Amino acid sequence: MFVIASLVVVGTVAAVYWSINRDKPLKYILSELQYTITMQAVGVGGVIDDWVNISKNKIVLPDANKKIAVMTGGARGIGTEVIRGLLKANMVVVIGIRKPEQSKKIAETMENGENLHAYELDLQSLRSVKIFAEKVNKKYPEIHILVNNAGIMFGDYKLTEDAMESQFQVNHLSHFYLTHLMLPALKNGGSLEKSSRIVNVTSSAHYIGKISFDDVNMKEHYDTIAAYCQSKLAQLLSTRYINQLLSKEGCRVKSYAVHPGVVDTDLFENTLLKQIFPWILKLFFKTPEKGAVSILHACFNKELEDKGGLYISNCIEGISSRSSKDIEYQKQLFELSCKLLGIRVEAFGKS
Ligand SMILES: NC(=O)c1ccc[n+]([C@@H]2O[C@H](COP(=O)([O-])OP(=O)(O)OC[C@H]3O[C@@H](n4cnc5c(N)ncnc54)[C@H](OP(=O)(O)O)[C@@H]3O)[C@@H](O)[C@H]2O)c1
Repeated sequence: MFVIASLVVVGTVAAVYWSINRDKPLKYILSELQYTITMQAVGVGGVIDDWVNISKNKIVLPDANKKIAVMTGGARGIGTEVIRGLLKANMVVVIGIRKPEQSKKIAETMENGENLHAYELDLQSLRSVKIFAEKVNKKYPEIHILVNNAGIMFGDYKLTEDAMESQFQVNHLSHFYLTHLMLPALKNGGSLEKSSRIVNVTSSAHYIGKISFDDVNMKEHYDTIAAYCQSKLAQLLSTRYINQLLSKEGCRVKSYAVHPGVVDTDLFENTLLKQIFPWILKLFFKTPEKGAVSILHACFNKELEDKGGLYISNCIEGISSRSSKDIEYQKQLFELSCKLLGIRVEAFGKS
């Protein structure tokens, strides 16, 4: 009975989708349908995983003794709660946000708010990333944690001022560039007792992602779900490759990837679910506070010291796709990212 009902629902959705998109070639209609359905499955799986592992999603914050954390985003969503946790752990927190004047208000609501500092950063612009990194590096020659948190999901096709597809640039490429520019300071901050950490906020959506190496900007055919999944897979691939690279170089810097859970934030503003049934998000999704926990775990947990490259979800190793573990695939993405940024692969992290 359940199977028949599911087939009827899928069949109806497929028929409606086809009638709306009749002008598109069939291969694109089928691929979009596949992404739409599998993304729903990943979302439902993520919500179930969050509920099953609810008791593991916990953290005891240490006293970080005024070490330096740099983070992207944070004026809203999960990032705000990560800032709250980092400040509570007695860190000096430097955030890159589009409107730095917002930081005063954020700081007022937080314990140790006087330790929050903000600089302008727009991840849709590589120029802005460079200027942000220069200012931060000048003021903080030693950095201990870099959290690449900011992100966008879905929305219409848009190219950035650097002529890159916006989700790929905001979620992956600008963070990859920032990591490159921050690595000298992160290396300065790492010690034998405790490595510095790069924490990339990725997503379980990476699971269905593919890197379109021939058309990374998806100019031939744009599917916004595929673009988000591509960008989140790119973050995980580079987390693993960069970790390996740093380990080979003997650097005291580790890199981790975190899926924060399925969290009720503005990230869902372009989804029908949030527009039609916002109460479902309130009822079943994590709060931003709970979403921040795994990210803070990746920042502080001592047992992760020897586990660089780990994909974390609910404070334990999460299930990641086979392609994300493929070293050749990781290398191919690393080389493409360097090429797009005009960085020689041997010069990565040594600017
Ligand atoms: N929510 C979830 O269920 C979920 C699940 C998996 C992964 N994630 C990941 O978690 C991270 C945080 O997402 P969220 O849920 O907290 O979303 P959110 O509430 O929409 O917050 C996104 C943050 O990214 C910033 N941002 C967006 N575009 C930017 C740009 N061009 N330059 C600088 N900052 C920019 C936003 O700043 P403005 O205020 O200036 O726009 C905001 O601070 C993202 O990487 C997301 O992919 C979230």
